[in-house]
Amino acid sequence: MMKSVDIRKTFLEFFTSKEHLIVPSAPMVIKNDPTLMFTNAGMNQFKDVFLGNSPAKSPRIADTQKCLRVSGKHNDLEEVGHDTYHHTMFEMLGNWSFGNYFKKEAIAWAWELLTEVLKIDKEKLYVTVFGGDETDNMPKDMEAYDFWKKIISEDRILFGSKKDNFWEMGDTGPCGPCSEIHVDIRSEEEKKLIPGKDLVNKDHPQVIEIWNLVFIEFNRLASGQLVQLPAKHVDTGMGFERLCMVLQNKKSNYDTDVFQPLIQEIAQLSGRPYGVDNKQDIAMRVIADHLRAVSFAIADGQLPSNNKAGYVIRRILRRAVRYGYTFLGFETPFMYKILPVLVNQMGDQFTELKSQQELIKRVIAEEEASFLRTLETGIKLLEQLSEKAKAEGRAEISGKDAFTLNDTYGFPLDLTELIAREQGLGVDRAGFDVEMQQQKERSRQAAAVDTDDWVIIREGEEVQFIGYDFLEAEVEILRYRKITQKNKTLYQLVFDRTPFYAESGGQAGDSGFIEANGEKISIIDTRKENNLIIHLTEKLPAQPEENFRAVVESGIRQMSACNHSATHLLHYALRQVLGTHVEQKGSLVNAENLRFDFSHFQKMTDEEIAKVEQMVNRLVRANIQLDEHREMPIAEAQKLGAMALFGEKYGDSVRVIRFGESVELCGGTHVSATGNIGLFKIVSEGAIAAGVRRIEAITTEKAEEMALSNFKTVGGFKAVFKSSADMVASLHDLVEQNAKLQKTIDALKREKALGLKDTLLASAREIKGVKFIAQRAELDAAAAKDLSFALKDTSDNLFVLLAFVNDGKPGISLMISEKLATERKLNAGQIVRELAKEIRGGGGGQTYFATAGGSYPEGIDAILAKAENMIE
Ligand code: SER
Repeated sequence: MMKSVDIRKTFLEFFTSKEHLIVPSAPMVIKNDPTLMFTNAGMNQFKDVFLGNSPAKSPRIADTQKCLRVSGKHNDLEEVGHDTYHHTMFEMLGNWSFGNYFKKEAIAWAWELLTEVLKIDKEKLYVTVFGGDETDNMPKDMEAYDFWKKIISEDRILFGSKKDNFWEMGDTGPCGPCSEIHVDIRSEEEKKLIPGKDLVNKDHPQVIEIWNLVFIEFNRLASGQLVQLPAKHVDTGMGFERLCMVLQNKKSNYDTDVFQPLIQEIAQLSGRPYGVDNKQDIAMRVIADHLRAVSFAIADGQLPSNNKAGYVIRRILRRAVRYGYTFLGFETPFMYKILPVLVNQMGDQFTELKSQQELIKRVIAEEEASFLRTLETGIKLLEQLSEKAKAEGRAEISGKDAFTLNDTYGFPLDLTELIAREQGLGVDRAGFDVEMQQQKERSRQAAAVDTDDWVIIREGEEVQFIGYDFLEAEVEILRYRKITQKNKTLYQLVFDRTPFYAESGGQAGDSGFIEANGEKISIIDTRKENNLIIHLTEKLPAQPEENFRAVVESGIRQMSACNHSATHLLHYALRQVLGTHVEQKGSLVNAENLRFDFSHFQKMTDEEIAKVEQMVNRLVRANIQLDEHREMPIAEAQKLGAMALFGEKYGDSVRVIRFGESVELCGGTHVSATGNIGLFKIVSEGAIAAGVRRIEAITTEKAEEMALSNFKTVGGFKAVFKSSADMVASLHDLVEQNAKLQKTIDALKREKALGLKDTLLASAREIKGVKFIAQRAELDAAAAKDLSFALKDTSDNLFVLLAFVNDGKPGISLMISEKLATERKLNAGQIVRELAKEIRGGGGGQTYFATAGGSYPEGIDAILAKAENMIE
């Protein structure tokens, strides 16, 4: 039996022999195409070559491409696990001709490889060709038909519809008719019952497409029109896992050596064999498949998160965890334990799995753990809710309950639906939507702003931002309006042009003032509303129709610029030190400090933080000049290495900010050279979500102030520890020594107090038949208590009042023997409260022992004098 690694190798070697250049797989995660999150076909990376926008590296190329079909036009997620031949992540073996060979060679080579090299029985194969389409005004692909006719009998050639035989990447882009090769792997008996040709393209699990040969000739425009491309190309894609199934004589992709090691590991971990129970088998297939998808995505830098591509990955992972939890009894993280098998199997071909194994493992384990917690709480609650629904005779979980599960327990609606379905219940989706809407309304109202209509002073459309070049300008007010929020009135002003930067891209808006005829109005903030730049003031100018001098608070702007430029350097340094999985997840820049959120799976070590700081400060000292491009075509910017942020929309031309090797797409304001930043200091590093860390840092004077204040503190220490080589160690020693000394002192105090015992007993007087002691002593409250209890056992007729002053505060304690207290109805608590009046304090306790504190030490003598009156 041919092993999967050899099958992949044979494919690539075959096309090498046909003069193809073998290239590595493109990343599976796409970061710069708003229309596509993940690579869904081998040809994605060649889109621009087909369109004639960029040259091909070689006229003939072949590879194996990591693909993920979980969103958009090609989405197989829900099938996965339930059938035996769909996957989220799969490998697509492909060969391409860019304006080189066309249908004849593509067909002949595909046939040669399958039947002569890989020796698939010709009798098992069928081919389809494009049968024409009227709406597109396309004829039947007789050219392809005629080539096939020479190598396969005509009753095995089928014409197919546009749906099956006209391949398109998405709604727009390169496309063309295609010819597919299908294989029938059913048993001979089954074949006798229904001929294979009747099952082609009928979703039969054993009569399946394995190879698609696309003859790319057109570009589909957004209008729907097909435009002939400048050249004709070939794009073929063969499902690697399916090919393995055929060559290894299996009936399921999951029975091949691509999946079996994973499945066996899952079976082993769960203690349940594969192939016994259908539901468990589905779960194992889901887990095996999803582990691949998630691992490859993480290796490509896409961590699970709460939105966009990150959320797709999170959902895939959660789907697997849910199946494992429900059907295989996994209640603790388990997927990460299977990872070594995957790496062992695929790490040679896809080295990114090997090099990032640790990252992948940690991210998966952390995600699993956090989702299992959610799952457990949610499932328990859902069980109660289901019972409640059933008891009340409802067929549905209410929308309100589903909403609570979602809102309070983070339990996704689709999961609630899935579990409810297993309990034979539905979910009131409409009710859920209403709740969601109401919640949105509530938060909207909480933030409600009462906005008056605009008062138009002058007509004017485009508001020009001139703040990259000017901090001061002559401006006119175009319009203004009053807003009221939380009982506060503010005014929003719109100028014809403005030097004020409006809050965006994480950078705070500018402040400053406008001035006319001696009247100065403060601009407290600048914001954006759609594309309008709005200046906030607390007061309207007396004459709004005047010309104003608008002045940006340059100190604050400069600080923001320092912090913004430092953020870019920080981003660069983090990627250098931690790796290119580091990606910006959010940032906040103002005059005070900077905050940068980024994908990274674990706490940064002190060494890493120091390294990043050092690197940034080195770049600061290098005083790199700002290289700013206001209008650069996005492709060019990316060639320079600028990273488009995931989920950000960019125009065709972008602003590029470059400081040496740090290149970013950015609309913010920056320093003219990095030296302005002066000094960079990280003040904190911590987690804000699974896989996302946050760094807070300061620059310029703020960093200097901190450094100086620390120097001062250290200087103070040094003055104390004059001769010490290691001050920190000395400080530790000191603290330790101090603790020891304190212990010794406490012990000595205690000893001393007990030593007083005999002296006190000797001073006892007989008063009204009671052994009476009332003394001032050098004690603290604890020692007084110890002493009182030590005296307690010496007689059952004792009345011991101790008075003391500590740190200027007077206190007393009173102990009365139990027998005495009972017989004479004495209550220590009451007596103490009464006596404490003399020291202007209060206290209390029990019948036999009580204490009090006060604020008037001079009152102690009075207490000692008065004490005997307390005995009746
Ligand atoms: N682009 C075609 C497909 O994905 C052939 O590679 O099926």
